[in-house]
Amino acid sequence: MSAPEKRPQPRPGIMKIARYVGGEGGLPGIDDPIRLASNESALGPSPKAIAAYAAAKDSLHRYADGGAAALRRALGARHGIDPDRIVVGNGSDEIIGLVTKAYAGPGDEVLFSRHGFAMYPIATLAAGATPVTAPEAGYRADVDAMLGLVTEKTKIVFLANPNNPTGSYVTAGEVARLHAGLPPHVLFVVDAAYAEYVTRNDYTDGLELAKTHENVATMRTFSKIYGLAALRVGWCYAAPAVCDVLHRTRGPFNVNAAAQAAALAALDDVGHIDRARAHNDIWLPWFAEQVQQLGLTVLPSIGNFVLVGFPSEDGRNAEAAEAHLKADGVIPRPVAGYGLPDFLRITVGLEDEMRAVVASLRTFVGR
Ligand SMILES: Cc1ncc(COP(=O)(O)O)c(C=O)c1O
Repeated sequence: MSAPEKRPQPRPGIMKIARYVGGEGGLPGIDDPIRLASNESALGPSPKAIAAYAAAKDSLHRYADGGAAALRRALGARHGIDPDRIVVGNGSDEIIGLVTKAYAGPGDEVLFSRHGFAMYPIATLAAGATPVTAPEAGYRADVDAMLGLVTEKTKIVFLANPNNPTGSYVTAGEVARLHAGLPPHVLFVVDAAYAEYVTRNDYTDGLELAKTHENVATMRTFSKIYGLAALRVGWCYAAPAVCDVLHRTRGPFNVNAAAQAAALAALDDVGHIDRARAHNDIWLPWFAEQVQQLGLTVLPSIGNFVLVGFPSEDGRNAEAAEAHLKADGVIPRPVAGYGLPDFLRITVGLEDEMRAVVASLRTFVGR
């Protein structure tokens, strides 16, 4: 037997985690870069949310409401769901971690699709469980491939719908079929971070399924269309037993007071969200069309971002395109870490930002 390590050792699995690499926030020598690397809202938050955040400064000595009661009530009213079946988290990232730690551990498997959101493998390894990835078909989750990998060890199945970074989605019928194929002990988590951007009538955010099944949880966030990524507010809707587990394991004041106040105000400003969706409905297809006219590939997306594909030759590939865009002051998101080395993910920004990206890509491809 080898000598035990002398320094403290983390639990198995932790050192297998590839650290999450977020979108870059700045570029050396460029004052105000065009930041399209993190799927943030083009329009930013509602002015009402900013005012609520500012007003929170008068009570900084008070603890937040640890149960986020007002926000849960408002979410319940907005979505027609029971506020007692909502748990609010410090971003949906926190919920992903809480769910995984509570329901999976050493010897257990957590299943998701090949190009699924990066936090699923991180949370799985952090819990000491084993990540299992199902192949995709055309950069889209493949329900049959996922079902084929379910074993008695499977404890959680994560499905981002729409998925980041691919922008693809599985239809409500496919979501129902995936759920129907899972044994009742498997927790099915539908991550609907981009649900508010979706304008497809065959889409589901998982809420209806979660209303009637004990093994379904659905997650949402204020980081995307609500424009509050900095404040970290996400939420989960699930059966009372799942909520109970999350409440037991979350920090007592996991969502700060200013964040709760801003989220509550943001939720109330329906007009702002409609404008953000309308903006996306114009500029996502516009951008996809322009990029295709440049001879580049664009994967169909129903989120507020799109994967642009590049040829694999040196000088014309995604890495070269990233360098070119950055030199022009545009920050895209490389997605090689997602197993997509030939693509860059670009968030839908403001009109002048999207025009600037197209102009930069045009000089890149030399047209
Ligand atoms: C699919 C998906 N789920 C969850 C998150 C995490 O969001 P939050 O900011 O609420 O932690 C993201 C953020 O990029 C995402 O794309």
